[in-house]
Amino acid sequence: MEDLEKKPQTILIVDDEEIITYSLSMHLSLSTDLNIITSNDPVSALKIVENNDIDLIISDYLMPNMNGIEFLLEVKKTKEDVTMILLTGYADKENVIKAVNQVGVYYYIEKPWDNDNLIKVVYNGLEKALLIKQLKKKILELESSKNEINKLYNILQKDYKVQVESIENVMVSLAYIIEAKDKYTVGHTQRVSEYAVKLAQKIGLERDRIEKLRMAGLIHDIGKIGVPEIILNKPGKLTECEFELVKNHTVIGGNICRPLVNFSDLYDMIRHHHEKLNGSGYPDGLKGEEISIEARILSVADVFDALYSDRPYRSKLPLEKVIEILKEEADKDNLDIKLVNTFINMVNNDEIQV
Ligand SMILES: [Fe+2]
Repeated sequence: MEDLEKKPQTILIVDDEEIITYSLSMHLSLSTDLNIITSNDPVSALKIVENNDIDLIISDYLMPNMNGIEFLLEVKKTKEDVTMILLTGYADKENVIKAVNQVGVYYYIEKPWDNDNLIKVVYNGLEKALLIKQLKKKILELESSKNEINKLYNILQKDYKVQVESIENVMVSLAYIIEAKDKYTVGHTQRVSEYAVKLAQKIGLERDRIEKLRMAGLIHDIGKIGVPEIILNKPGKLTECEFELVKNHTVIGGNICRPLVNFSDLYDMIRHHHEKLNGSGYPDGLKGEEISIEARILSVADVFDALYSDRPYRSKLPLEKVIEILKEEADKDNLDIKLVNTFINMVNNDEIQV
């Protein structure tokens, strides 16, 4: 990167009177270390501005073809931040003051000028020009750092996505392994996930929460990995002790999810998918609003599919019977009545195909 402070600055002096450009450049070259370019015609001066890196312009106001303000407006089309000092005769003063505020002239000096004052104004103008340049350089550096950071962020995001997808795949595979252990529940998790998503969409749950619910549906019984196969497939009634082991799948499932990236949000849904609104569910005996809407949705989808599929201890029930039982469960405050009614309507309207 170039060192802006060490580079000599360039001044352009524009005046239709040669004697003025000459005397000004003489004064300035004696007192300051500068590149000085002069021009006696504003139109040619515009070309000079275009082709050179000009730090400061000193321009006359009254010139043929174009006055100093018109000249500055043209310059600003290509060099927006140029610093400009305007030289004015006494008669032009009023017009110039108006224009100074409108177009942003840095300073105006009345003719005839005082040399010391002129040098002071030029120094200050050059300092301002340098500050603007340095600021622009900093902005460019910041922009470039921002781009680098964005690139890195995108790479990390991609890595993160891949990592999350890999974990998701492992978890879903694990859920399928468990399903395979339990010959009566093949396809159960996919159906529960699908029903839960449709019900959630119907009640207007936010998109990202639905996405998590979709995954929770797929792995809600992942804790059954800790339940012996012989109990999962037992045709008769479970003993109290066996039932306690089965109930524990909610706790195991939640604990499997909690430490995993992007799965900790599923902890609540997995752990509480067997809670009941009246507090008689497990594992925590939560009541009503203590149970998240996601867990309540999962519960309706899970109970429906459990009744509407073959189980070790009974065959699949007819749809009418399943709907009747769902309503009874809602009446007993085991399931959320609003969700049950919405779900039944969706089944009856074919919005959920069973
Ligand atoms: Fe379950």
